[in-house]
This record gives sequence, structure tokens and C-alpha cells, in this order.
Amino acid sequence: MKRIMRIAALVLALLLATILFAGCASTPTVDVIKSRGKLVMLTNAGFPPFEYVSEGAVCGVDVDIAREIAAELGVELEIQDMDFDGIIGAIKSGKGDLGIAGMSVTEERLKNVDFSVNYVDSKLVILVKDGNTEITGADTLSGKKIGVQSGTTSDVIATGVDGAEILRYKTFLDAATAMKSGKCDAVVVDEMTANEILAVNKDIVMLEEVLSTEQYAICMRKGNESLQEVVNTVLNRLLAEGKIDEYIANHMASGE
Ligand code: ARG
Repeated sequence: MKRIMRIAALVLALLLATILFAGCASTPTVDVIKSRGKLVMLTNAGFPPFEYVSEGAVCGVDVDIAREIAAELGVELEIQDMDFDGIIGAIKSGKGDLGIAGMSVTEERLKNVDFSVNYVDSKLVILVKDGNTEITGADTLSGKKIGVQSGTTSDVIATGVDGAEILRYKTFLDAATAMKSGKCDAVVVDEMTANEILAVNKDIVMLEEVLSTEQYAICMRKGNESLQEVVNTVLNRLLAEGKIDEYIANHMASGE
């Protein structure tokens, strides 16, 4: 009887340990990444000029930055293209090392991940179809259908508009396509991506009003200080050398 109890206690302890450790993979410190030999970048490649797919490969400003970080660590770079609204959860559960996705720093996100230094200043703007005279700024969005990319700061801002209906898409490009076919009336999106959308859609225009100003940074698991230090060193160097502006110029189809 005693033996059975002891075995039962052991099984229970094992079960508990499994439950406790499941979903909390160890933190990808610099040492872990170096011994693994690769850095895993999580992104959502529908956000030009920061990340987009060209000839089957993910490229853009954020990929150029990630290559510099991987080189600094002396490891290969693996890019995982996923839904934007899944990136923070995936970083938390250790499915990737860095979220590099033109991601704006927000109070809400800071509760779940740590961020690097900021590397780009951005703002949110409104896109409408050329000839739309009803929507002229934020105060005319009430009662309208607003298209956004799910889980972005645009989603948060649009959700705050009284009486508006929010249509959430997988990418901002999908939101713009939906607006062209009349499924939504406006798209709220980051300015540089807006310019990229305008460059290939002559029937869309950008309104002058700025809805918010934001900063992009790279996110990582909370407390991953060794990785944060390397990322900050690389970003500060790239910023000082004017490289980020160079990357942006290289990836802007609109030639800005
Ligand atoms: N800057 C905005 C945000 O943080 C949009 C980012 C979208 N990025 C992307 N790769 N799709 O919410």
C-alpha cells in the first residue's frame, strides 16, 4: 500500500512539473542563441517598406536590421512570417527571439515584452478613396467602416472612434484592397506604409491629419537583458551611421 502511495505521489509530482514547465521555454539569451547558431526573427511581411515579400523572400528595412544583429551575434538569421497579432504571444512563449515588425512601443505591449531603443519615428494617418468628400479627418469617421490590420495601434485608435465599425484584416494591404472594392470607407495605417500603398494605388489618397505619433522598436522576452544589450548596440550604431534612413530609402517603392 505504502509503495502504491509513493508511486502515486511521484506520478503526481511529475505531472505537476510538466504542467509548470509547459509553455515556459527557457529565455533565449545571447549564449543560448550562439550555441544554437541561429537567431529567430518573428515578423508579418505585409508592411512595406519594413517587411514585404519579393520573389518569395521576406525583405525590407527590418530584415536588413535583423541581418546586422545576426552578424553581430555570429549566427544565421531565420525569418518567420506570421500574423502580427500573434507576435507578442510567440515571443512570450519562446517561439522566436525577436519581434521585428515595425512594432510601435505602447504601454500595453510593455506589460508583456521588453523593447530595444527606438529606431524609427512614425505616425498614423487616414487613407480614403480619391473623391471621398465625406471623410475629411478623424471627426468624420463616426458611423463609418474603418479597415485596419488586426492587433496594431491602428486597430486600437480606430476602436476608440465612437460609432465606427472596425474591419480587421491580416495586413494593411488587404485593408486597402477592401476599401477599393467598397467594403470599408477608410483605412488607418502607419504613414510610410501608407505611402507605399499610395505608390501603387492611384485611386487612394492620404488625409493630412495625424492620428498619433509613435516609435518603432524591437521586442524580446521580458528580462532578456543580454539580447537587449546586443540589439541596442547594433541599433545605436546603425542610427549613428545613418543606415536606417538608407535602408528605408532602398525599400521605398514610392521613391521617398
Ligand atoms: N506600427 C504599428 C503597430 O505597432 C503597425 C505595425 C504592423 N507591422 C507589420 N509588420 N505588419 O501596431
